Amino acid sequence: MNKTSLYAALDIGATKICCLVAEGSYSGELRIQKTGIAPSVGFNQGVLDNPGEVREAILQAMEATGHSFRDETSTPLYLGVTSRNIRGTQALATWSSSRYGGKFIVSQKEMSSALAACQPTPDSNTRILHVIPRGYTVNGSTTQYPLGQRTNSLKVESHVVLAGASHIDRLLTTVGDAGGKVKGLILDSLASAEVVLRADEKELGVALVDIGGEISSLAMFKRGAAYHTSVIPIGGRHFTNDLTLALDISTEDAEEAKLKYGHVNPDGTMDSTRKVDLGRPGRGIQIAQGEIFRFLRERSEDLIRQISRRIREAGMSPMSHMPPSGIVLTGGGANLRGLDQLAQERLRCPVRVGIPNLSSLLPKELKDPAFATVVGLLLCGIRKPYRPAEIKRDRWPWQFMA
Ligand SMILES: Nc1ncnc2c1ncn2[C@@H]1O[C@H](COP(=O)(O)OP(=O)(O)OP(=O)(O)O)[C@@H](O)[C@H]1O
Ligand SMILES: [Mg+2]
Repeated sequence: MNKTSLYAALDIGATKICCLVAEGSYSGELRIQKTGIAPSVGFNQGVLDNPGEVREAILQAMEATGHSFRDETSTPLYLGVTSRNIRGTQALATWSSSRYGGKFIVSQKEMSSALAACQPTPDSNTRILHVIPRGYTVNGSTTQYPLGQRTNSLKVESHVVLAGASHIDRLLTTVGDAGGKVKGLILDSLASAEVVLRADEKELGVALVDIGGEISSLAMFKRGAAYHTSVIPIGGRHFTNDLTLALDISTEDAEEAKLKYGHVNPDGTMDSTRKVDLGRPGRGIQIAQGEIFRFLRERSEDLIRQISRRIREAGMSPMSHMPPSGIVLTGGGANLRGLDQLAQERLRCPVRVGIPNLSSLLPKELKDPAFATVVGLLLCGIRKPYRPAEIKRDRWPWQFMA
């Protein structure tokens, strides 16, 4: 690695809080050094309703890394923002120059000016997280790379990610109280995408679905850029709750049934008659595997239908409806066995499970879709593909640079 410095990432999910500390080089290489995980508490439906509890859980995750955040205040921390609290929208702007007879050669400066003009003026209840250029139009053709072209106007279309101000401010205050020095905020699905999607998939068109604890976050890409971000209100807990209600068992037993024996059984080849024991041995809870498969499959069908509808509504590909490079499932919920195969059959496009992938060695425990967001946060912090909303002041009111 060339010259390096320390970076940290914090993903506050519905089920777990995960903190990573890594050595990163300016060329974008990353070596993860420390991992801290704590159960998530203090959130109700994604709303931070008990800041004290959340702060304690964040502290627990940060302390578990062994890194002293309070002493080493220079470690920049990249914080994930859950898709539950965001709204995606599109914006258009045209930039032109009155100098040199109106003609100019597009440089980074003109691109930045056009993008700045594309940034809506948010009201006091809203924060702009990201302004992502979807494409620049120069002399009638659209491209991601307009540099060096001679023109008299530069049009830019962007995808803007907006977040509720009160949620963001409470989040920043809580993480700050726990000793974290937040340097940038990144939408969770965009962070996951950074570490599970390939450049060729993003170029052709792909949808990422991060199936978390309470929600699934959707991010769609085309011509290398984020095109659409939204949320589907189904996550791992809905699968567990279905088992709890349908089989009349406790939440703990339902979660065990899902994790240990769960399968969507898309081609019906799994043994459905086998009985499995749940909970402590000798407690006498016996369930036929087929029952577990049946209810997990019903919820999977529901999730796949909603994914399909949302992708069609986003209108990426009018011909086939589904993105040319298909769909990548990630987040802990993507571990449900058989889900990718069932989705592939129903949606008639390639579907794969996205596991975090780094050019450097990734600790074994992080090679799981559940850690896509936190590893992706680090990469986004180092590479800055989305110009993360940077925190310019240390105190409220937070000043963002999208
Ligand atoms: N093998 C598995 N089969 C089915 N579900 C699984 C499996 N492994 C993990 N899950 C589910 O994944 C969910 C947690 O995923 P993840 O860790 O990505 O969520 P999170 O980031 O905490 O939540 P969110 O992204 O919604 O804020 C849990 O509901 C868990 O039951
Ligand atoms: Mg998550």
